[in-house]
Amino acid sequence: MVQSPSLGAVLNRSSTPFGQAEARFLPVLVLTVVFSFFVNLLLFVGPLYMLQIYDRVLQSRSESTLFMLTVLAGGLLTAYGAMDFIRSRLIFSAAMRFDTDLAGPAFDRLMARGAVASADENRATLVEIDRLRDFLSGQALLTLCDVPWAPVFLIVCFLFHPLLGVIASVGAALLFILALVNAGSTKRTLAEANAGNRRAGEFVAAALNNMELISALGMQSKMKSLWLQQRQEALGWHGTAAGRGTAALSLSRFLRAALQVAILGAGAYLVLGGEITPGVMIAASIMMGRAMAPVEQSVVHWRSYEGGRQARKRLRTLFEDNAPPILRTTLPEPKGHLNVSGLIGQVPHTGLAVLAGINFELEPGETLVVLGTSGAGKSSLARLIVGFWRPRAGQIRLDGADLRHWSPDQLGPKMGYLPQDVELFEGTVARNIARFGEVDNAAILAAAQRAGAHDMILGLPEGYETQLGPNGSYVSAGQRQRIGLARALYGNPCLIILDEPNSNLDSEGDAALAEAVRGMKADKRTLVLITHKSNLLPLADKALVLSAGKQQGFGPASELLQPALARGSSTVYRSANTLPDKSDTMEGV
Ligand SMILES: Nc1ncnc2c1ncn2[C@@H]1O[C@H](COP(=O)(O)OP(=O)(O)O)[C@@H](O)[C@H]1O
Ligand SMILES: [Mg+2]
Repeated sequence: MVQSPSLGAVLNRSSTPFGQAEARFLPVLVLTVVFSFFVNLLLFVGPLYMLQIYDRVLQSRSESTLFMLTVLAGGLLTAYGAMDFIRSRLIFSAAMRFDTDLAGPAFDRLMARGAVASADENRATLVEIDRLRDFLSGQALLTLCDVPWAPVFLIVCFLFHPLLGVIASVGAALLFILALVNAGSTKRTLAEANAGNRRAGEFVAAALNNMELISALGMQSKMKSLWLQQRQEALGWHGTAAGRGTAALSLSRFLRAALQVAILGAGAYLVLGGEITPGVMIAASIMMGRAMAPVEQSVVHWRSYEGGRQARKRLRTLFEDNAPPILRTTLPEPKGHLNVSGLIGQVPHTGLAVLAGINFELEPGETLVVLGTSGAGKSSLARLIVGFWRPRAGQIRLDGADLRHWSPDQLGPKMGYLPQDVELFEGTVARNIARFGEVDNAAILAAAQRAGAHDMILGLPEGYETQLGPNGSYVSAGQRQRIGLARALYGNPCLIILDEPNSNLDSEGDAALAEAVRGMKADKRTLVLITHKSNLLPLADKALVLSAGKQQGFGPASELLQPALARGSSTVYRSANTLPDKSDTMEGV
């Protein structure tokens, strides 16, 4: 059963930024259709001029008539050119505005959708804006405005003489079918060719990004042959598509020339029989050309229509399904009381359960150390606490309010997070620490000092103004981690989550981190510290032990970590094993 959309859904549709952008585009589209009407009407100038020349001027041999007609035609053609130009400009600038109207809100919606879609999917959705804009701004849409005129030109041919009409119609139909068959037969091959190109491009980009590894491990020739093989496959598809395309092109060129001969031949025959004048013969031949052009063009632009249609659908879904973040009431400044209860976590776009039965509570200013082997779910817990992943069940509360009830604008600055892969952005050290917000020098210095990174940063070539390069690649992993720590501490947030902040640190960095943790404790900042190393354990108030996604224990650090601390071992992997093993599987989640 087809359900008609509810009024709410319809209202919702037009009230999304996408609906609004479309509504703003509509008047320009209407105007373009109006201009297209005149543009196509003025296309009659050529054949009519020809008709007059042949049937009037050449008969009467009147130079003044020729002059008058030429001036008139010149004026009309100027109007034609101007209108054609104006409609192109109109639609182009409207499409640009459509893009600007949409890009910002689309970015917001993607962020609101968060981790639910994969990075690739999000990237593809943003590319849809380009595709839609290209469709709206380009020749494809104008061709669509011209297509309805093809029958009009054909009808005029019929009015000249039924036989001329039949030839023109059959010709247009043949060209249309040929173009359709060509598009159909090359569609799959072209798609394969493009996909192959993309794969090869991604492969070589990844290889170039990891040149270090490739040259060190002598993988060069193997990588090259893999790449060449992928290119070869893509080229093969391109070859097939091009072969078919060329055949269709030659055939359609032949067809057009043959039709020209046919219509002139038939016209001349009719002239000999006295049924039409020579002028009509020439005019009909031009008219046929006018009818065929948009028909052929429409098939050329077919992929553009398809792309535009799909892009529109995807973007509309993005806007309709991801309501804008509700403007939440500003809550009192958080103090850093964290409460996690009955938490079940899953990897968002796969639905794979990674955490279950997590319950713990931290008072403001407490330091929690999270322990567990690789793959235990520590980083997943961090992503849930910072709100990037949403819990499948259970609650994460900050100062009593569920994370979802905090406005991101209020919560973000109050939260510090250092992901396991530090994730710095291209820009200066200072801007990275300031989270790309307004550069507040005092706050940047304070954060760097709190993180114990100030001296290290001063040692960089340009100090705080050092460019970090793509992904922070111009500094070492340890330096990235320390800059990332400073960024986490920027603005003195009340809740700080550090995911293995010392995985790349040397002893000096370790000491700086320990000092930073002491500072945070003194400052009554709540700290969730995921770590493998034991030098920070004595600073912990509470400990949480995870194993295969389950909570193995939570309690005062002094009790829970006694065995590991007593051993004085440098790692605490084994501390989890000293606890009773409840379950290692995620069954029943
Ligand atoms: N983005 C992801 N996609 C698929 N699986 C994931 C993803 N993130 C984490 N996992 C899975 O969740 C489990 C826990 O991962 P993680 O939280 O990173 O562990 P830890 O940080 O304790 O080493 C792993 O088994 C991993 O396979
Ligand atoms: Mg991890």
